[in-house]
Amino acid sequence: MTQVSSSADVPSMGRRQFMNLLTFGTVTGVALGVLYPLVDYFIPPSAGGGGGGVTAKDALGNDIIVSTYLTTHLPGDRALAQGLKGDPTYVVVQEDGSISNYGVNAVCTHLGCVVPWNANENKFMCPCHGSQYDATGKVVRGPAPRSLAIAHATVADDRISFTQWTEEDFRTGEDPWWA
Ligand code: FES
Repeated sequence: MTQVSSSADVPSMGRRQFMNLLTFGTVTGVALGVLYPLVDYFIPPSAGGGGGGVTAKDALGNDIIVSTYLTTHLPGDRALAQGLKGDPTYVVVQEDGSISNYGVNAVCTHLGCVVPWNANENKFMCPCHGSQYDATGKVVRGPAPRSLAIAHATVADDRISFTQWTEEDFRTGEDPWWA
């Protein structure tokens, strides 16, 4: 009796182990499948211009929704968003009411103050030591030594994606100092 029961248990144990293995594999596979997008989401994009971008976010950390944004941000508007590496970056609304294909990094190239946009003067004017930049962020008055950095701004899925600007700076015709 014992032998019958024991010999009957052998294949059943094997089957159980196999089933356990199968279950473990399935659960692990499902878990990895679920976790991958989450983990992927939280890994910051590489800063080396590897094609990774960041979605422009408002002051509360929410994605900027372009269709909503453009109802309150009119042509000529320059308003701050969170950009690459968390840098404050101006989203530029063009005269035709669309989002410009570049954003302007608001960090002053003198000593790093955040430079406000002055709509009346049509310039970015740094309150710290008086540097001024034109509407594209090109430096027009020191002591800032360089123009404000720019980033590519691409609209997709009603959101703005900032990516590194590594090509020639269209404002100066020079290589970008920030890349
Ligand atoms: Fe902007 Fe000095 S930090 S002018």
